[in-house]
Amino acid sequence: MKSILFLATSLLLSLSVHAEAPDIASGQRLFTESRCLECHGVDVFTSKDRKVKNLAGLESKVRQCDANLSTNWFDDQILDVVAYLNSTYYKFKPTTANETAKAAAGALIDVAEKPQTE
Ligand code: HEC
Repeated sequence: MKSILFLATSLLLSLSVHAEAPDIASGQRLFTESRCLECHGVDVFTSKDRKVKNLAGLESKVRQCDANLSTNWFDDQILDVVAYLNSTYYKFKPTTANETAKAAAGALIDVAEKPQTE
């Protein structure tokens, strides 16, 4: 009985943790374990000519490439990967209310608070 309770509690915990904040470590795992680097390297994320200009753009690009690859990530996995790519390469501050709300959830806030050198 105790172990069932424990299992139920940890399941609940992991579910709620996931619902609240994007998980950069999970994003990194998903990104490196998927075939994301088959068509391009990570250099496209830092190139001067990169196309993505903000967090919303990053999210839509990740969704598009996820669809191309048929990875079928869930929404929270997409957001984990977005958080990972943003914290590692793009370093966007959240700009819209929606992005601010997501950032307020946690993981992106570190990036947002770093002074930007522009
Ligand atoms: C089938 C080939 C292919 C795969 C696999 C692929 N991508 Fe892409 N990706 C592209 C192409 C092509 C572009 C450039 C599109 C453009 O020029 O707008 C791109 C661009 C991007 C960009 C934007 C780069 C910029 O200009 O700032 C991101 C972010 C990205 N991909 C993420 C991913 C992720 C995450 C995965 C794994 C789910 C992935 N890609 C897998 C083809 C692919």
